[in-house]
Amino acid sequence: MAEDNHPQQQKWNRRYAEAGQPNQAAQVLLENRHLLPSQGTALELAAGLGGNALLLARHGLRTQAWDLSDVAMSKLQRFADAEQLPLQAHCVDLEQQPLPEAAFDLICVSAFLDRTLCASISTALKPGGLLFYQTFTQAKVRPGGPSNPDFLLKPGELLQLFSQLQPLVYREESDCGELDQGLRNQAYLIARRS
Ligand SMILES: C[S@@+](CC[C@H](N)C(=O)[O-])C[C@H]1O[C@@H](n2cnc3c(N)ncnc32)[C@H](O)[C@@H]1O
Repeated sequence: MAEDNHPQQQKWNRRYAEAGQPNQAAQVLLENRHLLPSQGTALELAAGLGGNALLLARHGLRTQAWDLSDVAMSKLQRFADAEQLPLQAHCVDLEQQPLPEAAFDLICVSAFLDRTLCASISTALKPGGLLFYQTFTQAKVRPGGPSNPDFLLKPGELLQLFSQLQPLVYREESDCGELDQGLRNQAYLIARRS
């Protein structure tokens, strides 16, 4: 359990206190459901209200959701329990809590970037396990997302951060073509641990 002493925890708790519904799952999952394993264990990191974790649990994966916000984790646990889903939500500070090695068949992260975690995310996958990762890029064509460059991907950076994994799907459209269509401001990667 995370202590109530992380500088970001109160900010996120205030935001989630106002939210009544889970967020929608990320496009990396919605557009690639056919790649999901039919059974096993999943982990969503920095899950917030857990739209991704709920999708994974509804798919039949035994799912954990970890996030700093105890408010979000309480709400997510209630959403999951109402549907009797195999989902456990835990209040965890990812800066303090090491990831277990070779523990998950799937890890999902969206709208969150802490580059120091990437190596341990890779090794937290079981051999053959899949990473689904989607977050914001520096190349913005519309307003929205963080402005702090620490939280924005450089071109192609997801591929570099997870270069020890085998990429299966990578999508980054940057400022190419018709800007009112496609996946803008974000990139996504699906990759497998060999
Ligand atoms: C932009 S939200 C994204 C939430 C969710 N993944 C989504 O796509 O809607 C970022 C999340 O990161 C969580 N977070 C920030 N720092 C964290 C930390 N050190 N440990 C765990 N979660 C953290 C916040 O509580 C927040 O829920």
